[in-house]
Amino acid sequence: MGKILVTGGAGFIGSNFVHHLLENTDHSVTVLDKMTYAANEKSLEGLDPSRFELVKGDIADRNTVDPLVDEADAVVHYAAESHNDNSLNDPTPFIHTNLIGTFTLLEAVREYKTRYHHISTDEVFGDLELDDPAKFTEKTPYNPSSPYSSTKAGSDLLVRAWMRSFGIEATISNCSNNYGPFQHIEKFIPRQITNILSGIRPKLYGEGLNVRDWIHASDHSSAVLTILEKGKLGETYLIGANGEENNITVLRTILRLMGQPEDAFDHVVDRPGHDLRYAIDGSRLREELGWEPRFTNFESGLENTIEWYAENRDWWEPLKAEVEAKYSKVGQ
Ligand code: NAD
Ligand code: DAU
Repeated sequence: MGKILVTGGAGFIGSNFVHHLLENTDHSVTVLDKMTYAANEKSLEGLDPSRFELVKGDIADRNTVDPLVDEADAVVHYAAESHNDNSLNDPTPFIHTNLIGTFTLLEAVREYKTRYHHISTDEVFGDLELDDPAKFTEKTPYNPSSPYSSTKAGSDLLVRAWMRSFGIEATISNCSNNYGPFQHIEKFIPRQITNILSGIRPKLYGEGLNVRDWIHASDHSSAVLTILEKGKLGETYLIGANGEENNITVLRTILRLMGQPEDAFDHVVDRPGHDLRYAIDGSRLREELGWEPRFTNFESGLENTIEWYAENRDWWEPLKAEVEAKYSKVGQ
C-alpha cells in the first residue's frame, strides 16, 4: 500500500485513473490540480476521504509541489493543457504547464528520489499518411505538429534527460486518443454527443477523413497501473487498443446510435495543420507486461459513453454555451 500523487486528477483521464486506483488497489491518492477550465470537481465526488485528498495548486509552483512529492511513494503526471485547438489560439499556458510544470515536478522527484510516471501522447510523433500501413512504435522519431504536441514532446525529452543525467526513477507512456466518461465537451466525441443532446447539429472539421486511434480511458488507466507496477525504469511504452477510425465514421456512428439521420451534421472550417492519422503499435506493452484492453468493441464503448452524457447533464450542461460560443468565433 502506498501514496500516489496524481497531477491533473480532476481532468478527464486523470480522474478516470483516480477511480481506477481506488477501486483496484489499496493505495491512497492525492490529486494536485490547478482546477483550470478543464477540471471538474464533480468527477471526484463521493470518494473515500480516508484514502483521497484534492489539493488545488499549480504544478509549476515548487512550494506547492515539494511537500507533496516528498510524502508520495510515486507521482503520476497527467496535468497538462491538453487541447490542440486552444493551443492554436494561445500557446502561452501550454508552455507554462506542459514545459515549466513538468520541469518543476522533475526537479522535485530528483530531490526527493520519488518514482515518477510521465503521461504523454502519440501526437509527439506527428502524423502518418492515410494509406501508410505503418504505425507508431517506441522507436518512431519525434515530429510534433502543434503548439500542444510540441510542448508534450518537449516534456518527454525533459524526462529522458532527467533519467539519463540525474538517474531519476521514471517511465513514460504515449497513448492514443481517449474517450469515455468525464471528457471535457470541447473534445470531438463528447462535443458531438452533447450537441445532439442539446439540439445543435454536430460539427465535422473539413472532410472528416482524419484518422484517430481510439482507446477507452479505463483501458488507458489499467495500462498506466501496469507500467507503474511492472514497467522497466528508464523505458517508454506506447499504449493503444487498435481502434483506428476516421472522424466521419465516428460521427455517423454516434448519430445512428442516438437515433438521428447519419447525414445530420455540418462540415466546418478545418483545423490549421490538422494531423492526418495516428496509429499505435502497442505490442511491446502486451508482450512484455501482459496488458490487455477490456473495451475492444468501439461501438459498445461509444454507446456507454453516450449513455453517460445523457445521464449526467448536470456535469456538462453549465459549460455548453461557452464552449460553443468559443468555437463559433472561429467558424467551427
Ligand atoms: P484535461 O484537459 O481533461 O485535464 C487536464 C487537467 O490538468 C485539468 O484538471 C487541469 O485543471 C489540470 N491542470 C492544467 N494545468 C495545470 C497546472 N499548471 N497545475 C496543475 N494542474 C493543471 O486533459 P486529459 O485529456 O485528461 O489529458 C491528461 C493527460 O493525458 C495530458 O498529459 C495529455 O497530454 C495526456 N493524453 C491525453 C490523451 C487524450 O486523448 N485526451 C491521449 C494521450 C495522452
Ligand atoms: O492522440 C492523443 C491526443 O488526442 C491527445 O494528446 C490530446 O490531448 C487529445 O485532445 C486528442 O487530440 P485530438 O486533436 O486528436 O482530439 P480532438 O478531440 O480535439 O479531435 C479529434 C479529431 O476530431 C480531430 O481530427 C479533430 C476532429 N474534430 C474535433 C472537434 C472538436 C472535429 O471534426 N470536430 C470537432 O468539433
